[in-house]
Amino acid sequence: MPVTVVVGAQWGDEGKAKVIDLLSKEHGYVVRYQGGHNAGHTVVVGDERYALQLVPSGILYDHVVPVIANGVVVDLPTLFREIDTLERRGISCERLVVSSHAHLIFPWHQSWDALYEQGRGDAKIGTTLKGIGPAYADKARRVGIRAGEVLDPAAFAATVRERARLENETLVAAGGDPLDVDDVVARFVELGTRLAPYVGDTVNLLHDAVHAGQHVLLEGAQATFLDLDHGTYPYVTSSNPTAGGACAGTGLGPRLIDRIVGITKAYTTRVGAGPFPTELLDADGDRLVEIGREFGTVTGRRRRPGWVDCVMLRHAVRINSLTELALTKLDVLDDFETVKVCVGYRVDGVRLTHYPDRVELLGRVEPEYVELPGWQRPLRNVREVSELPAAARAFVQLVEAEVGVPITVVGVGAERDDYVHWS
Ligand code: GDP
Ligand code: IMO
Ligand code: MG
Repeated sequence: MPVTVVVGAQWGDEGKAKVIDLLSKEHGYVVRYQGGHNAGHTVVVGDERYALQLVPSGILYDHVVPVIANGVVVDLPTLFREIDTLERRGISCERLVVSSHAHLIFPWHQSWDALYEQGRGDAKIGTTLKGIGPAYADKARRVGIRAGEVLDPAAFAATVRERARLENETLVAAGGDPLDVDDVVARFVELGTRLAPYVGDTVNLLHDAVHAGQHVLLEGAQATFLDLDHGTYPYVTSSNPTAGGACAGTGLGPRLIDRIVGITKAYTTRVGAGPFPTELLDADGDRLVEIGREFGTVTGRRRRPGWVDCVMLRHAVRINSLTELALTKLDVLDDFETVKVCVGYRVDGVRLTHYPDRVELLGRVEPEYVELPGWQRPLRNVREVSELPAAARAFVQLVEAEVGVPITVVGVGAERDDYVHWS
């Protein structure tokens, strides 16, 4: 069966885009299935660095049809800024298809995101302020505006005007700044006209592709522990990045999927608030941030660093039915004298065998570590397992044994070809 899912196994920014770029060689379609421009997916090709928010990471290959499927929330100004930037750099986006069922993000969603965050005071989620949560809330409330509506420009303009007027009333009542309704309508009618040629029936497109023997790659944004149902709620995003979300977000049924690749760093990072058992608040953490360049692609925020956590990864295997793991950024640990792998949790003196189901408990667990000697050699130019220092191999073997699924790829640098096929 020809459908592969790539899903973050931690809290995002695991290097999904680099692995998707690698897998794109053997796939005809690359499909974003959830999230929106809260994602920042980086592919480095030689001196060129592509930071993608909405356009699928397979765009860099001419043979790939990039698809934004029904589960995504689409911010049109960002989409077209991204398309323009890519096309200026010689990458055609003409083949892009956007689902008629994808919901659109409007300026009021961003206003609400900011107001809700302000209202939380010290309990902020630390969202990207892109309007993602409010757009998904409108989808659930059944008042969202979908991409297919731009195909009838007059009706689209009337709907946007009416919604902008209503949102303005509630926004102002909640202490927000009013929107300029005429300006919003004018801008979005123009953006809608530009969107129209890209809009399509992606459900049937993808089924026909699968039927014709094409290989389809479903690109997760965010990650397992930011999942609305399975993440560290409420410190999560408002969609389902987990593999089940790939079915709902594309209309491809679960029996079509045969390969589910979880992506993890050789350590852990998290942006925004929420519990983080292996977090490092010391000099080792600063080194991970500095060497791993752990600053958000989208918001520029410093990512919180910590050791790799196999309890989390075992849970990610369960939730997503992972068939394999890709372990990225092993090279970031090159200079460490010793490296740690979390293999269990203890809380109130009791060893937990499962990932805790409540954030309150997760906030109190003490990680149990296995400490290994570092390799203290640069891995960047390593291309074969046999060239990896024994200490680096021991680290990967320990993670693989603890998590219980094969590791197939190990990342040793940011560039496209900086990886080793592990198994
Ligand atoms: P994504 O959101 O999961 O696609 O990940 P991001 O692109 O937000 O963040 C991952 C960062 O790590 C990017 O800057 C990548 O270029 C970089 N990266 C990916 N894999 C590796 C690797 O194996 N080693 C190093 N040093 N950097 C990597
Ligand atoms: P990629 O796809 C890391 C985090 C935010 C915040 C929480 C909710 O690049 O891995 P939202 O704006 O989605 O309502 O914010 O989720 N977050 C991410 N963290 N990588 C991402 O995407 C993220 N997208 C959202 O920091 O904690
Ligand atoms: Mg990212």
